[in-house]
Amino acid sequence: MPGTKRADPAETNALEALIDGYQRTQALYVMVKLGIADQLGHGAQRADAVASAVGAEPGACYRLLRALEAMDIVHEPSAGTFALTALGEQLRSQDALRDALLLTGDVFARWWAGLEHCVRTGGSSVPVIEGMSSFEYLHANSEQTRRFNRLMSAMVEGIAAGVVSVYDFSAVRRVVDIGGGRGTLMSAILKANPPLRGVVFDRPATIEEAKQAIEGLGLADRCECVGGDFFAQVPNGDCLVMSAVLSDWNDEKCTAILRNCRRAVAADGRLLVLERLLEPEKPAPQSAFMDLQMLVIGGGTGRSEPEYRSLFHASGFELARVIPTGTARSIFEARPA
Ligand SMILES: C[S@@+](CC[C@H](N)C(=O)[O-])C[C@H]1O[C@@H](n2cnc3c(N)ncnc32)[C@H](O)[C@@H]1O
Repeated sequence: MPGTKRADPAETNALEALIDGYQRTQALYVMVKLGIADQLGHGAQRADAVASAVGAEPGACYRLLRALEAMDIVHEPSAGTFALTALGEQLRSQDALRDALLLTGDVFARWWAGLEHCVRTGGSSVPVIEGMSSFEYLHANSEQTRRFNRLMSAMVEGIAAGVVSVYDFSAVRRVVDIGGGRGTLMSAILKANPPLRGVVFDRPATIEEAKQAIEGLGLADRCECVGGDFFAQVPNGDCLVMSAVLSDWNDEKCTAILRNCRRAVAADGRLLVLERLLEPEKPAPQSAFMDLQMLVIGGGTGRSEPEYRSLFHASGFELARVIPTGTARSIFEARPA
C-alpha cells in the first residue's frame, strides 16, 4: 500500500511481548498463589504430581508450567518433569518478591485496570473500584495489610542502612517516624544512635505490628509506638522523618500533612523526607512506573527537587539540602522557615 512502511519483525515481537505483559504477571501470580513454587522447592517433579499436591487440574497445571518454562522460571529436565530455575527459586525464597506478586495479583492488578480513569482525571482509581481509599481498603483486609507492611518494611530495610550511614543524628533528642509502618527505619536509626529516643507513628492497625517488632528487637524502652491520623495531628519531636509517605498523596493532602509536621517540629528541628528524586526530564524507568503506581493507588506522585521545595514552602518549611543515600531514596532535609 502506498505510504505504508513494512513493520520490522523484531520491533513487532518486542511490542507483542509488551502487550502480553499482563499474561506473564498472571502466570507468575498463580504459580505463587497455588503454592507451585513451594512445591517445586522440594525438587524436580512430574507435572501431575505438582497438580495433585496443589489441588490443580493436571492438564491445565502442565500448560501453566510450560508457559513458565517459556519465561525461564522453570525448566523441564525430562519430558513432563519440571524444576525451578535460579529465577524461579527466587519466587520461593524471597518473601518480598512473593508479597509484591501476591499484592499485585490480588489487589494492584484490579486497581491498574482503572488506569484510564486515573489518566483522564488525575486521581486514583481505587475509590471508584472499591468505594473507599487504598489505605481504607488495605486496613479493612488484615491479610493484605500485613503483606503490604511486610513489603514496605523489606523495601525500607536497605534504604535505612543508607540513611544511618550518611545522616548525623548525634544532635537529635527525639526522632519521630511519621507513617513509620512496622518501625524498620526507626529500629535502624535507634540501633545506630544509642542515646536517641524515638516514636513510630502510624494508623492504629499498623502500629500494633510496629509495637511487636520494636519489642522483639528489645528497643521498647527507647521507642514509643503511637497510633493516629497524620491528617489530624502528629507527635512532637526535634527530628521528624517521613519515608515513602508524601509520594502517596497529591499536593493538597501533602500540604495538610506537612502543616501538621510544622506544628510538631521543634523551632531548631529538622524534617527528613525520604523519597525517590524524580528527574523531571527523563526519569529512570523504575521511577516512571513507581510514579504511575502512586497515581493509581492514591492519586499521589513522584516529585522533583523544585516540586519538594515548593511543597515545603507552602507549609512553613524550607528545603535545606538534598542528601543522596546511595539507595533509591534521597533525604530532602527541611527546616522551619
Ligand atoms: C508507603 S507506606 C511507607 C511506610 C514506611 N514509612 C516505609 O518507608 O516503608 C505509607 C505508610 O503511611 C501510613 N499511613 C497512611 N495513611 C495514614 C494516616 N492517615 N495517618 C498515619 N499513617 C498513615 C500507612 O499505614 C503506611 O505505613
